[in-house]
Amino acid sequence: MADLSPQPHPEPTPPSRSSILVAAARAFGSREPDQTIRNPDLLADRLIGPDELVLLGDHPLAKALEQDCAEASQIPAVVGFAWLMLLRTRFIDDALERAIKNGATQVVILGAGFDTRAYRFQELLKDCKVFEVDAAPTQEYKRRRVAMALPDLPQNLNHVKVDFAKDDLGDALRTAGLKQNEKTFYIWEGVTMYLPDECVRKTLQTLASLSVPRSSVVLDYVNSLGIELGKFTPQGAGGLPASWGEPWIFGVPGANGSEFFHELGFDPGVPVVINHPDLVKRYMVGKDGVTYGAHVFEKARAAAEAKAKEAAQSPPPPPPEALAELRKAITAAGGVYWLAEITVRP
Ligand SMILES: C[S@@+](CC[C@H](N)C(=O)[O-])C[C@H]1O[C@@H](n2cnc3c(N)ncnc32)[C@H](O)[C@@H]1O
Repeated sequence: MADLSPQPHPEPTPPSRSSILVAAARAFGSREPDQTIRNPDLLADRLIGPDELVLLGDHPLAKALEQDCAEASQIPAVVGFAWLMLLRTRFIDDALERAIKNGATQVVILGAGFDTRAYRFQELLKDCKVFEVDAAPTQEYKRRRVAMALPDLPQNLNHVKVDFAKDDLGDALRTAGLKQNEKTFYIWEGVTMYLPDECVRKTLQTLASLSVPRSSVVLDYVNSLGIELGKFTPQGAGGLPASWGEPWIFGVPGANGSEFFHELGFDPGVPVVINHPDLVKRYMVGKDGVTYGAHVFEKARAAAEAKAKEAAQSPPPPPPEALAELRKAITAAGGVYWLAEITVRP
């Protein structure tokens, strides 16, 4: 006889916690009183509510959003994250504005998470088609959250569910209405690190073959030295809790990925290391002339120096040779974390 007793509902797959974490860091940065160094993503704060903070567990950013902003602005882990997001958001926002001015008519946000550009740039994008692409659990979660927290969806926004590791991105975008003969601007922010090598390659090859020349992709990424460096830390590169199941596994070969992007059909342009002085000057200096977070980073540096002095009587063991070699290679490469706008070659 059939079992007619009520069956337990399977737990829905949780959204990507890293997508909530980065939005939380933008939300924190958007509370900065000095407008010149405020994160421009003012909608992030509306998307990160109590349920999202619960998903972040005991991450310092979850607490920071419930704390007084000035007080939380003294915590290095919070400010460090907000620093990274401020720079990343501004760099990519600028690239988006430039791409539209230069004739892109389609914008595809890959691994969109809680990206709000379709909403923040409605006026700029009013004559464009916009596509948000993400894995189903995160996209479904985000759409429910947006329906609660933001006004109506922009008419030109299309949602496309794709797992980069399993699905055919090209087919999915074409089916959703992407036109291969129109100039397209792709945003791939905070995603490559989480994907297997072959998946990053396949995705970039798809974008190159799907798009007319001079279409471009703005993205951030680490090099393989950055992934190696993570192996010397307890939580690995990326530093997210292992229970989130989102380790950083991919780094581009070479110093800044130029050859890698070239091989896959792109003009790599001039990749720029995330803390390049020109970027810091352009995006991170407050109206008092002080760089965002400088006071906290200086305090943390001084505390580390004092600790090292204290331990001088019994010096700590020197770093393993492999770590010393890796540090040298990172200095020679110019850093581990990069931003680039790469362009489809004719
Ligand atoms: C750190 S979040 C970044 C989100 C957003 N781009 C941002 O910067 O706010 C990583 C995003 O990559 C997406 N992602 C990771 N692996 C994926 C895969 N195999 N297929 C599709 N999306 C993936 C996650 O769903 C998540 O939205």
